[in-house]
Amino acid sequence: MKQMVELTVNGEKKRIYVRPAATLLNTLREELGLTGAKPGCENGDCGACTINFDGRPMKSCLTLSIEAVDHQVTTIEGLIDTPIQQAFVKQFAFQCGYCTSGFIMNCHALAELYPNANEYQIKDWLQSNICRCTGYEEIEAAITEVLKNKAIEDTPS
Ligand code: FES
Ligand code: FES
Repeated sequence: MKQMVELTVNGEKKRIYVRPAATLLNTLREELGLTGAKPGCENGDCGACTINFDGRPMKSCLTLSIEAVDHQVTTIEGLIDTPIQQAFVKQFAFQCGYCTSGFIMNCHALAELYPNANEYQIKDWLQSNICRCTGYEEIEAAITEVLKNKAIEDTPS
C-alpha cells in the first residue's frame, strides 16, 4: 500500500505517494520525471544511478524513497551550468547517456567534499562508477580542472 511522503529534490519539496519498498531511483524516474539517474545494474555496482544525498554521492538503486524524507536529494537535473558539468563538456568527458550523469554526480561530490584531492584519490573515488567502453582520462581531466579552479578561487589575493 502506498504512503504519502514529502521529498526535497533539487531544492523543491514534492509530495508523492510511494510504496514502502520503492527505490529512490524508481521514484525519481517514474513519479518525478527526473530520468537523469539511470537504472544500470540496479545492484549497487555500476554507479549509473548516483545522486547526491545531503551532499554525499549515493546509489539511488540501493536507497529507499522513504529514507530520503527530511534529507536533501540532488540529481543531475539540479547541476545545470555547474563547473563540473561545464568541465565535462570542455574536456570531452561526457560519454554515453547511461554512465555520464553518474560520473558527473560523483565528481561534483568529490569537488565539494575533498577539494584538495590528488590524482590517486581521484582515481580511487571514480572506482564507484563503471564504464568498460573507454578510459577515464577525460573524466579525470574534468575533475582535475574543477579542483584547480577551486584552489585558485580560494587562494587569498
Ligand atoms: S544502477 Fe545503481 S549502482 Fe548500478
Ligand atoms: S558505460 Fe557509458 S561510455 Fe561506457
